[in-house]
Amino acid sequence: MAKDSISGTLLVAGLLSVVCSALVSISAVILRPLQAENRDLDRKKNILQAAGLFEEGRSVEELFAKFEIRIVDLASGDFVDDPDAATFNQRKAALSNDQGLPIPKKDDLAGIKRRSRFAPIYVSSDDDGSLQQIILPVHGKGLWSTLYGYLALDSDLTTIKGFAFYEHGETPGLGGEVDNPRWKEQWIGKQAFDSAGNPRIEVIKGAVDPDSPEARHQVDGLAGATITSRGVSALLEYWLGEKGFKPMLDRLRDEKGN
Ligand SMILES: Cc1cc2nc3c(=O)[nH]c(=O)nc-3n(C[C@H](O)[C@H](O)[C@H](O)COP(=O)(O)O)c2cc1C
Repeated sequence: MAKDSISGTLLVAGLLSVVCSALVSISAVILRPLQAENRDLDRKKNILQAAGLFEEGRSVEELFAKFEIRIVDLASGDFVDDPDAATFNQRKAALSNDQGLPIPKKDDLAGIKRRSRFAPIYVSSDDDGSLQQIILPVHGKGLWSTLYGYLALDSDLTTIKGFAFYEHGETPGLGGEVDNPRWKEQWIGKQAFDSAGNPRIEVIKGAVDPDSPEARHQVDGLAGATITSRGVSALLEYWLGEKGFKPMLDRLRDEKGN
């Protein structure tokens, strides 16, 4: 076959594409476990950052070792062994028929349409087994996107230890200011519930008046981003409420006797 014939060119191009696609497929298969490991490491880092426990230069695995993953049945508030905490994926579960549920419009404060019946939570305990802090995954609609984050609560299950989003598509400088360290710092020490155990935490419009009795339940609004700010308030109201983590938090408070 002549080197520069049409059939020769097509043969070389065909062989080249077969070899290249085989190489891409083989790399994808080989790298899959590494990608899964990196995703897991990234999730742990996000959780530690939300709790204010991430330390640059220290091993994420080592810092995360104090946390235990538990799966919560949101309706009953009980911890369950099935689904398995090691493999559970809350986003996939929300979309599935057996583990997911549609959220009636009137209840859908977070604007997420569906949710999983189960959620993973991260608990750290003292040496004597008493709860030290608990980290809850939360998500809900902003203006352009669904914001995904973690809320860390102190051992009283009311005082916020940290709050951070790890994924969103809000506008940098507007809704994207949810990532501003100064804004995130404001959450630390705020009270997420009232004395009756009902969720009460809000991103207000404008700045919090430190003399207001409500200040402990409020965080400054994001300038020029009222829709994102409202979304953050609403997603917390949803996830800390009856349809979210409230049954579990009520149960844990009862067990602790506070
Ligand atoms: C290009 C563009 C991007 C915007 N991004 C956001 C955003 O991420 N979050 C948000 O709440 N509002 C955003 N807004 C503004 C909203 O449209 C709306 O005006 C604003 O939420 C009202 O907030 P304010 O009452 O604090 O001004 C954006 C507006 C424009 C033109």
